[in-house]
Amino acid sequence: MRAKTFFAPAIKADVDQLAALEIDLFQTDRCSKKSLRYLIQHAHVIVARQEESTDILGYAVLLSRKNSRKMRIYSFGIVPTARNLGIAGKLLEVLESIAVNSCCRMLTLEVGDGNTAAINLYKKHGFVQYGFRLGYYEDGGHAILMKKHIQ
Ligand SMILES: CC(C)(COP(=O)(O)OP(=O)(O)OC[C@H]1O[C@@H](n2cnc3c(N)ncnc32)[C@H](O)[C@@H]1OP(=O)(O)O)[C@@H](O)C(=O)NCCC(=O)NCCS
Repeated sequence: MRAKTFFAPAIKADVDQLAALEIDLFQTDRCSKKSLRYLIQHAHVIVARQEESTDILGYAVLLSRKNSRKMRIYSFGIVPTARNLGIAGKLLEVLESIAVNSCCRMLTLEVGDGNTAAINLYKKHGFVQYGFRLGYYEDGGHAILMKKHIQ
C-alpha cells in the first residue's frame, strides 16, 4: 500500500533539498538557498512528504504582505516521480486553507505561458487569468497572471 502523503511547514533542515528541487524543477527564476532560509522564517513554505520519510515530494511558497488581503503563490512544484497523483491539487487546498485562516480574500500567481500542466492544474482549482506579462521571467519568457477569489 502507498504511504500517506502529509503536508507541513518546511524547516531549516529542508533548505538543501528545496534548493535542489528549485534547480530540478525550474529553468529560470529559481530561489537561492539564502532566499529559501528567509522564506521559511518569514513566509509559508509548505512541503509534502510521505509518512516516515524526510524526502520532499513537493512544496509551495506562499507570500503575504502587511495590510493586504491578497496572498501570492511564489513557488510551486512536485517531483517528477510523484506527479499525477493529485498531490499538487491537495497542496493547493492546503494553501487555500492558510489563506482563509489569514483572512485573505484572493490568491494570485504567475505561470509560464507554455506551462500547460500547471495552467490546467490552476484552472481546475478555480484560478482564472487576469493578465499577461511579456518577458516576465529572467530568461525572457512570458507569464500568465492568475487569481482566485477566496470565499
Ligand atoms: C504542474 C505540477 C505542479 C502538477 O503536479 P501534479 O501533482 O502532477 O498535479 P495533480 O496530480 O495534483 O493534478 C493533476 C491536474 O493538473 C493538470 N495536469 C497535471 N499534469 C498535466 C499534464 N502533463 N498535462 C496537462 N495537464 C496536467 C490537470 O488539470 C490534472 O487534472 P486531471 O488529472 O483531472 O486532468 C507539476 O507538473 C510540476 O511540478 N511541474 C513542474 C514545476 C512547475 O511547473 N510548477 C508550477 C510553477 S507556476
